[in-house]
Amino acid sequence: MSKDYEERIQELRSKMTLEEKIGQLQQCGPSLVGAFDVSFDELLNMMFDGRITKEEFDRLMGTAEQDYHEEDLRAGKIGSYNGIGDSAMANRLQKIAVEETRLGIPLLFGYDVIHGFRTVTPIPLAESCAWEPALWEKTGRVAAQEATAAGVHLTFAPMVDVAKDARWGRVSEGAGEDVLLNSDYGVAKVMGFQGDDLTKEDAMAACLKHFAAYGAGEAGRDYNRVDMSMQRLWEEYMPPYQACVDAGARAVMPAFNDINGVPCTVNSWLLRDILREKWGFNGLVISDSNAIAECVDHGIAKDKRDASKQAILAGMDMDMSSNSYIECLKELVESGEVPESVLDGAVDDVLRIKFELGLFDNPYQTDGQRESQAMLKDEYRAIAREAAVKSMVLLKNENQVLPLKADAKIGLFGSLAADKGQMTGAWAIGANPEDCVSIVDACEVRRISYRYSENGSDLLKIAVDSDVLVAAIGEKKEESGEAASRADIMVRQEDLALVRDLLATGKPVIVVLFNGRPLAIPELAEHVPAILEAWHPGVEAGPAILDVLFGDVNPSGKLTTTFPAATGQCPMYYAHINTGRPGGKSKFTSKYLDAPVEPLYPFGYGLSYTTYAYGDLKAEKKEDSLHVTVSVSNTGERDGEEIVQCYVQDVAAKRVRPVRQLKGYKKVGLKAGETKQAEFTIPYEELSYYDWNMNKVPCEGILRVYAGGDSRAELMEEIIL
Ligand code: GLC
Repeated sequence: MSKDYEERIQELRSKMTLEEKIGQLQQCGPSLVGAFDVSFDELLNMMFDGRITKEEFDRLMGTAEQDYHEEDLRAGKIGSYNGIGDSAMANRLQKIAVEETRLGIPLLFGYDVIHGFRTVTPIPLAESCAWEPALWEKTGRVAAQEATAAGVHLTFAPMVDVAKDARWGRVSEGAGEDVLLNSDYGVAKVMGFQGDDLTKEDAMAACLKHFAAYGAGEAGRDYNRVDMSMQRLWEEYMPPYQACVDAGARAVMPAFNDINGVPCTVNSWLLRDILREKWGFNGLVISDSNAIAECVDHGIAKDKRDASKQAILAGMDMDMSSNSYIECLKELVESGEVPESVLDGAVDDVLRIKFELGLFDNPYQTDGQRESQAMLKDEYRAIAREAAVKSMVLLKNENQVLPLKADAKIGLFGSLAADKGQMTGAWAIGANPEDCVSIVDACEVRRISYRYSENGSDLLKIAVDSDVLVAAIGEKKEESGEAASRADIMVRQEDLALVRDLLATGKPVIVVLFNGRPLAIPELAEHVPAILEAWHPGVEAGPAILDVLFGDVNPSGKLTTTFPAATGQCPMYYAHINTGRPGGKSKFTSKYLDAPVEPLYPFGYGLSYTTYAYGDLKAEKKEDSLHVTVSVSNTGERDGEEIVQCYVQDVAAKRVRPVRQLKGYKKVGLKAGETKQAEFTIPYEELSYYDWNMNKVPCEGILRVYAGGDSRAELMEEIIL
């Protein structure tokens, strides 16, 4: 926080009327208006529930146009927009704000730049499987360069919600189930988005979300209640948000959910006591979409006025698209129910981020020329391809079916092999599907000998002329992301039927999975010789997949989310507690009658075209940290990169502790036959935990230290702390 901003903030705010102050807290987006007197969302609902036909909906959409609320803007009633995404419109609105309002306060433009803007990179869950912070920062920088050229100042990212339930659709948007990986992923994205100077034109403020514990919604159902102990909240969910605040993220978005009965949107313990007092955050707190008004549905506010009062008092600075503040705050302040000093605090947070972004000195940070030159550069596509390759996880490769020979003849099946639009995955709202390269496109470019059938027609004819059959199956992008929870994560029956038909030909079958969450694939795991987890890989999907299938690149990705064998095992995660009767063969142990105890594929798992061996694990106590070394050898014929993982287990503690906790990881490049040593330093503070009374206590007594290639690593050293 720079002193000179604070003086400029106070000076400007002191000139503002009550209405102008409230206007700064209003974020809206363009809304569709036309020959219908309901909102666009309501119109959609009317079509979905059959109150109007699709034809009627299309006719009405034919009359629709975007309303940018320019009269409200001129009247000083808007401080920010969401979802503009093109420089001409942004500059048009900015010109009104700067030249036609009384004080000329510039607008803040927010946008969901989650995994790329035009150059869409792999969904976050995919990219997290690279276990490479430098890569995560690099793709964040590319996203900022493109998005700021389109007029974006603030992205509603990174999402660092630890997610342990594969039924939840938004598991696709974060870095999986582990608290350390989500923390590192979030920090890397904050650095990538914001760069080293927020006033630079290609700097984009990061808005960490969703604060807090949105990934812990009961039953994996989106927006559902979150109810947990404070121990669990602080040990397993809060660290990534704090890491992003400490890394300098300039905005925070509270989550839709409640925590133990108090919605985050109106939770002053969360937004004032923790975020501001304990963590020292002085940036912008912006609600999730319509979240303030939805506090009425939550049952914590009796009406919008009550919700507005609770939200502003709790520390919510800006209202995203619920119009609660703009409708209710004036009367609340005039009645004295909301002290004007509280309103001033929120206004200062809004003005501060605008000063920090340099918007007062340089409100027009882009134009059409910069925008047209910024998008989809070759170097960006190369980075997207690198990220996609590093995100892919080789789940199975029996009898060395992979990598394929350069002249292999491929029989390619499944709509996802050609459907470019699905390659972006969820939350790629700035993307143009035509920018994506599908597997079929890539086969053409690479001049692969292939024949393609979307639905398995001519299967036998194609199979006879093919050396190998590839099935591209999984999820379309709408099947993960927001409001996309699934009660059954089993791979689709029609996909299974296609794979069975391919297997029946007797030719080697490879499955390429496109999905935004772990899928239950026990039948594929048992019968298909090779399975490549490609996730939703972004614009360079096709080339990246062929790079791996043909061995141009040796896959190195490792799962950051557990793959259950059955939906009924959810939530399923590696850092679980042991229980007094750990699941096993005998009857009276913690397990299911109709599902295995173990996951299909564990956290941290991923194969390579070579093999690795571990040895010489040593754990040594230093003054304030544990020092761990382990040797890792490439015992195969190909060079590769191995993600070495270090886990700990506190075997007897004041509260039961997880059987494994990731405390370090390193990607190690190894030539065939080469051996290297990986080293980890684990501060004792990172081994501490909370006792029953929420006192932070050190790890004492026996600590098991594991190292290996996934969370089942057996190589272990015991040490007494
Ligand atoms: C959505 C999402 C949030 C997103 C916001 C703005 O409802 O929950 O992640 O940033 O709206 O689009």
